[in-house]
Amino acid sequence: MAVFPALFGLILVSIVTGQTVEITPKQAVRRVGDDLTVLCKVPYPIDSCRMTVGSTPYRLIPSNQDEDVVYSGQGLQFGECGAHIKHIKEEWNGNISCMLPPQSGSIEVTGTMRLVVAKPPANPQLISPPQSNFKEGDIFMAQCVVPNGRPAARITWFLDDDQFLTGVHQPIISSEPGIDLETISQNITKELSADDNGKRLVCRAEHEALDSPKDAARQLVVYYPPKRTESGPITIFGLKIGSEGRLNVTVRSNPPPEAQWTVGDLVITAPQKNEESTITALEPLHLGGGYYNITLVLTAVAKEDVDRTYYLRVTNDLGREEFSLRLSTMDEPAGVELSPGAIAGIIVGVLLVIIVVSLTVYAKATDKWCFEGRSHRTDIPDGADSEAPLPPHDDVKGSENPTHEHGDFISNGDTKHPEKKPDTAV
Ligand SMILES: *[C@@H]1O[C@H](CO)[C@@H](O)[C@H](O)[C@H]1NC(C)=O
Ligand SMILES: *[C@@H]1O[C@H](CO)[C@@H](O)[C@H](O)[C@H]1NC(C)=O
Ligand SMILES: *[C@@H]1O[C@H](CO)[C@@H](O)[C@H](O)[C@H]1NC(C)=O
Ligand SMILES: *[C@@H]1O[C@H](CO)[C@@H](O)[C@H](O)[C@H]1NC(C)=O
Repeated sequence: MAVFPALFGLILVSIVTGQTVEITPKQAVRRVGDDLTVLCKVPYPIDSCRMTVGSTPYRLIPSNQDEDVVYSGQGLQFGECGAHIKHIKEEWNGNISCMLPPQSGSIEVTGTMRLVVAKPPANPQLISPPQSNFKEGDIFMAQCVVPNGRPAARITWFLDDDQFLTGVHQPIISSEPGIDLETISQNITKELSADDNGKRLVCRAEHEALDSPKDAARQLVVYYPPKRTESGPITIFGLKIGSEGRLNVTVRSNPPPEAQWTVGDLVITAPQKNEESTITALEPLHLGGGYYNITLVLTAVAKEDVDRTYYLRVTNDLGREEFSLRLSTMDEPAGVELSPGAIAGIIVGVLLVIIVVSLTVYAKATDKWCFEGRSHRTDIPDGADSEAPLPPHDDVKGSENPTHEHGDFISNGDTKHPEKKPDTAV
């Protein structure tokens, strides 16, 4: 609250005296033991230079370079009053002020900058739900707190090695009264997916006073029911009668799936064989990332095997998925995927259809125009015909009365005359 009157007073003094001190930098962050140069400048020669560092006032003389805080600058005659501070002490955290003689009057002019002597924060704390595992789709929330740094630490989030950016909330910086240390906290919100399973969530704290970042981390365990990796009915191609046949299905599941096959009346739970050892359900094979191959081995594929449907039920604690499989002795159909050429062909074909359809629609919509035009055109040769030999027209009225004929929209000369006769009569 006192800042405004104080600031106002300062501005007033500056305006009244017409004098300001230019101080650079306005703010600096340094570690204990670092050095810092602060420079104050006025546009007129000065004969003294004083600087307050911490609670100690220093009188800086250009020729004296032996102290911890010494004069820096091009010289008093250039209006420069700078301080080179050689070894920054913890207790110097705070303001550094310079006091210069005024151009006129007797009130000294001052400049003030802020020195933050960096102090490392305490270790980051990752606060998250205590449960050891989550379900896919759960909204996971966590908070990272890095206490008591000066200045506040910076927080970044990672999932394994990838920086995590979406769902990161604004950081909140707070400090307890009377202590010039700052605590930063930041929350994240994330909808968990199957891909997050097994990942390490890392909150990383970086700070000027730390040589290397500090991490707090936890593992994410995400469970989900068995999921298909491909949709639609499954056909296993390329089987040979009399040879071994393998029926593979790839599913994603966490925790690991249990597989049960139904072949006719036979139900086998993996890993297991039928009595005759002709059908073996293999133990689901983990491919990594929660993907499993579930395989049924037929020792020798028989003709009737190709005609049946095989049913597979994959289960875990969270749910189940069912599959039906057919076998085929044919090779997998090729060319299901469209080549760019084929796509281009289809596009050209579709365009042609569109053009034809729109032309047809145009022709229909403008039927009258077309017919009129056509009747003109057909009438001219007709007329030429009728003028010379006249035989197609069984009467002379047609040629005698061409304007009436043109008004008629019937183009065929033979059919129009029977209709036209009553017309002309009316
Ligand atoms: C430091 O300077 C600022 C203005 O730059 C002032 O508001 C603040 O009160 C000063 N702090 C101390 C401890 O003198
Ligand atoms: C951050 O999360 C904590 C609990 O995890 C909650 O108390 C706090 O209000 C949250 N802060 C923000 C800004 O969302
Ligand atoms: C099934 O998996 C085996 C390997 O276990 C592989 O050799 C075979 O090609 C797969 N069959 C099909 C139809 O994908
Ligand atoms: C897993 O099954 C897929 C077919 O679903 C097959 O292509 C692949 O080769 C199998 N992998 C192993 C290791 O059996």
